[in-house]
Amino acid sequence: MSPEPIRAGGRSTARIDGPAKVAGTAPYAYEHPVDDPAYLVPLTSTIARGRVDRIDTAAAEAVPGVLKVLTPWNAPRLTEEAEGEYSVLQTPDVLYRGQIIGAVVAESFEIAREACSLLKVEYSEEPHDALFRADHPDAYTPETVNGGYEPDTERGDVDAAFARAETVIDQWYSTPEEHNNPLEPHTVVAIWRNDVVPSNSETDGYTLTLYTSTQHPHGVVETLAPVFGLDAARMRVVCPYIGGGFGSKGGPHAHDVLGGLAARALAGKAIKFAVSRPDMFGYVGYRAPTASHIRLAADSDGKLTGLVHEAFAQSSRVTEFVEQAGVPLRNLYDVANARTSHRAITLDVPAPFWMRAPGEAPGMFAGEVAMDELAAELGIDPIELRIRNEPESDPETGKPWSSRRLVECLREGAQRFGWDPSDREPGRRRQGNTLIGTGMAVATYPHMVNPGSEAQIRHLGEGRYSVRIGATDLGTGAWTILTLIAADALGCRPEDVDLEIGDSALPNGTVAGGSSGTSSWGTAIVTAAEQFGKRFGDDPPVGAELSASAAENRELEHYTAQSFGVHFAEVHVDADTGEIRVPRMFGLFSVGRVINPRTARSQVIGGMSFGISMALFEESVRDARFGHVVNHDLSEYHVPTHADIRRVEADWLDDEDLHATPMGSRGIGEIGIVGSAAAVVNALWHATGVRVRNLPARLDDLL
Ligand code: MOS
Repeated sequence: MSPEPIRAGGRSTARIDGPAKVAGTAPYAYEHPVDDPAYLVPLTSTIARGRVDRIDTAAAEAVPGVLKVLTPWNAPRLTEEAEGEYSVLQTPDVLYRGQIIGAVVAESFEIAREACSLLKVEYSEEPHDALFRADHPDAYTPETVNGGYEPDTERGDVDAAFARAETVIDQWYSTPEEHNNPLEPHTVVAIWRNDVVPSNSETDGYTLTLYTSTQHPHGVVETLAPVFGLDAARMRVVCPYIGGGFGSKGGPHAHDVLGGLAARALAGKAIKFAVSRPDMFGYVGYRAPTASHIRLAADSDGKLTGLVHEAFAQSSRVTEFVEQAGVPLRNLYDVANARTSHRAITLDVPAPFWMRAPGEAPGMFAGEVAMDELAAELGIDPIELRIRNEPESDPETGKPWSSRRLVECLREGAQRFGWDPSDREPGRRRQGNTLIGTGMAVATYPHMVNPGSEAQIRHLGEGRYSVRIGATDLGTGAWTILTLIAADALGCRPEDVDLEIGDSALPNGTVAGGSSGTSSWGTAIVTAAEQFGKRFGDDPPVGAELSASAAENRELEHYTAQSFGVHFAEVHVDADTGEIRVPRMFGLFSVGRVINPRTARSQVIGGMSFGISMALFEESVRDARFGHVVNHDLSEYHVPTHADIRRVEADWLDDEDLHATPMGSRGIGEIGIVGSAAAVVNALWHATGVRVRNLPARLDDLL
């Protein structure tokens, strides 16, 4: 081992997986080479609630090349663990429009699709309710919300604070249903083998193998092995490369189960199933629509005296999922009297799931627009308003911050963006026909470390090391940064690290979600490298090998660890047409040590672009009459093009947070989107004087 460890931080390193991706040799799930595959096309319900009475399969089965038609009556049985979205083809009940109710497997995709179109379905339809509204009579308080948070919190005397408040903001905000649209849709290749010896011996192979696009190979095994009645050792999930996921691939969905069912029905065949783009708006998760009622009370100096965030989110009869939109304001500002609550509304719709910064993205949109409204009402600069409400310690728990450098981000960010506090009157700057405005908003995201990741290190000789961990790379740069972390911890060059990730056959890897991946896997690699060094010394023998679980981080019990930042946006609005442009955006973040500036920048500006998209483009329009998303493709579900994303720049404070992780880093996966939509909308107000409270902002909102 080298006597002087290399500091991975600060070395901008190109993606080590880049050449394979560019050359097309990096296998994505659907491309995994298999012999003589069969192709699956699903049949989905055209009613939103009721049951399937009958499926006439005769015409489909008569098509040459059709291997199997699956229905709720002939599909292999799953165990009672198959609940919610994992209960696929187990009953004829229909819980939402677009639910999988059958499938055709054939020798080619085209045959399967043709045969599927020949299936005739008879339903008994029941009345459904697919209309999200905050005043729904059946809104209820869930036991917990996503992330395991309490639904309701209260501190101080909120009602008294509002009764004596000098200034009050009392508004409703909403964010629409949105769908994760990674370039690579959810895909699975499933193989079931009946010839595998059903014992725990590692050499006996796998009964069920899924090549599936997932952010969590071990999680897919943990969730689905019991559903199929398999010992976890009999199931393997392989996913070395992912073409994006944004959270939707954080767990298995119905397509994985369907692939497994078809594979079991046609044991020995490799079943290929790529979810179509329209079906990406169906059974694989989405961001639930939210409504937020926010009330802020402040004195004339801008000191917050009261805060209420009542969050409402859509859930489903399939699986309860409650977007935790009311969580981020619990500890962002110093306010003695605060109340937050979550109410869920269960509808006849697919199960919502994670989409980049679930909770924080919609919740901080509402909160940070409300703060901008308060700043305008008080005539205080919005940056100054944040500084006046900066808490010394976590106002919710009283714990010290592991590191909170938000004020530095605000001050330095304002300077670098060119923020002008003397020019905050709305609708005053105009160049020709273009109204110009600037806006800002705060970003924050919790630092999460998931326990249980495990790394294996082996000396290959001549200073080369094998490092194995069941991590995944969504396209975020994990291949590269885990290599850098390992090189740093082992004291070798990055090119001497032979990393393996993306396979449940590797040592346990926790989810690439909640911005926790690098922190969790990196801690395991650092722990294993330290133990390796202790055991084998500076000159380890060839073949020296060791596995270790990530050391528990006890520090985090004593601190609140969160990442922080600020977004600045400039917008141009055409005074006649309302056309909106975002010529520039700048974000400055405090995220601990940045391990690889190159991939970190890409990750953060990607999140900021996602925020522009959230502010101006994205909306899944669910037709409550029929229960489905009508704009279910990329021609009508709007996402920005290169022409829409101009100068988006991000930087971070020179930072290190050793309370957070042994690398000194905190998560950076999701903070880029948090607050960025609010910055854009706040800039729209500055440009036009129009306050947009319901996303996405539309041209006609501004006219
Ligand atoms: Mo993130 S939405 O937890 O991948």
